[in-house]
Amino acid sequence: MEFQFAMPSAVRFGPRVASSTGDVVAGMGGSKVLFIYDAGVEAAGLTEGVRQSLEDQGLEVFDYNGVLANPPDTIVEETAAWAKQAGVDSLVALGGGSSIDCAKAINILLTNPAPITQYDGLGLVYAPTLPLVALPTTAGTASEVTSFTIITDTVRKKKMVIGGPHVGADMALLDPELTVGLPPDITASTGMDALTHAIEAYVSKGAMVPTDINALKAIELIAQYIKRATEDGTDREARENMLLGSMLAGFAFNSAVLGLVHSIAHPLSVHCGLPHGVANACVLPYVMAYNAPAVPERMRGIARALGIDVTGQSQKESAQAAVDLVSRLRRDLAIPSLSALGVRQDHFDRVADDALQEISTLFNPKQPTKEDVMSILKQAL
Ligand SMILES: NC(=O)c1ccc[n+]([C@@H]2O[C@H](COP(=O)([O-])OP(=O)(O)OC[C@H]3O[C@@H](n4cnc5c(N)ncnc54)[C@H](O)[C@@H]3O)[C@@H](O)[C@H]2O)c1
Ligand SMILES: [Zn+2]
Repeated sequence: MEFQFAMPSAVRFGPRVASSTGDVVAGMGGSKVLFIYDAGVEAAGLTEGVRQSLEDQGLEVFDYNGVLANPPDTIVEETAAWAKQAGVDSLVALGGGSSIDCAKAINILLTNPAPITQYDGLGLVYAPTLPLVALPTTAGTASEVTSFTIITDTVRKKKMVIGGPHVGADMALLDPELTVGLPPDITASTGMDALTHAIEAYVSKGAMVPTDINALKAIELIAQYIKRATEDGTDREARENMLLGSMLAGFAFNSAVLGLVHSIAHPLSVHCGLPHGVANACVLPYVMAYNAPAVPERMRGIARALGIDVTGQSQKESAQAAVDLVSRLRRDLAIPSLSALGVRQDHFDRVADDALQEISTLFNPKQPTKEDVMSILKQAL
C-alpha cells in the first residue's frame, strides 16, 4: 500500500467558534487583516460578529466585500494589488466557496508574482503565503479545508483549479450557526455539491483508505440531513451535520481529487452561468450511472452509505438503486434540470471539449470520450 494524504487546515468546529476569529488571527501574529466576503453574506448580517471579534483584539480591519460567484481572475488581481499597498499581514474569509477561494487566490498574489493564471494546475505556487482563517457559511465546497482554489480565467473562459502547498487556509473555523440563515435553494445545491465531492472522491482513481473513510461518512451524513436542512433552516442538528459532512467530504477529495461530474460542472458554470452546486446536482446521477460498470463494488458502498438496504441485491441492482436515490433527491430538493436553467444543446460541444481537458477527468474511474460526455449532457437536459 502506498498513498499520500494531507489535511492543510487545522479545524475548530462548533456553535459560536466564529467569535474566536480575532483570537486566532492574533495568535498567528496578524495585526492588519484583510476581511473578505460578498454582498449576500453581508446582507445576511454575518460580518458584524466576526469584525467585532477582530476589533476586540485591537486588529486593524480592511474590508473587501466585492466577491463574485465563480470568482473571476480580475477581482483577485485588483484586490491583491491594493491589499499589498495597504500592507495587510493576514486574511479572514467569511462566506461560501466563492469568498474563501477568492481569499486563497488573493493570498497567493500577496507573496507570489501576478498574474494568478500562471498557477493554474497543481503544485505551482512556490512562496509561502500569509496566515489565512476561513469561516464557511455554506455546507458545500469545503474550501475551508482544501488546498484548492477555483478561479475563473476570464480570457480563456475556464475555471482554473489551483492546488497544492501554500494554497489552503491555515485554520478553518466551522460554526454551524453561520449557516442557519442560508436560503433553502442554496442549502440544497451546496449540499448536493458536498455529496458530489464525497461520491467522486470515493470512486476516484486517487482514492485511498483515509479518503474512503471520510467519503463514506460524508455520504451518510449528507443523505440523512440534506432534506431536513433545506426544509427547516433552523434545524440546528441538521445544519451541524451538513457542515460536518461537507468538511469530511473535503478531507476526502483534497487527497483523492474529484471526477467527471466536476469536469462537466466547471464549463457549465463558465459558459451557461450555472451555480456550481446546481451544475453538479444536474449531472451527478448520469455520471454515476456511466461510472457504475467500472466500479461495481464501490457503487454498492455508496448505496449502503446512502441508507439503502442492499441485502440480496446484485451489484448492478444496488448501483441502480444509488443512482435512482440521487436522481430523486435532486427532484425532491427542487433543483431544476439543465434545460429549465437555460442550457441548450448547442452549448454541449464546447462544454464537452472543455470537460475532457479538466484535471478531475484524469481521476474519473472510466476515461470518457467526447461522445460519452455529450450523451451524459443529453440525459441531464
Ligand atoms: N476550493 C475548493 O476546494 C472548492 C470546491 C468546490 C467548489 N468550489 C468553488 O466554490 C464556489 C461556490 O461556492 P458556494 O457554493 O459555497 O457558493 P457561493 O460562495 O458563491 O455563495 C452562493 C450565494 O450564497 C450566499 N450565501 C452564502 N452563505 C450564506 C448564508 N449563510 N446566508 C445567506 N446567504 C449566504 C452568497 O452571498 C452567494 O450569493 C464555486 O466557484 C466553486 O467552483 C471550490
Ligand atoms: Zn464542488
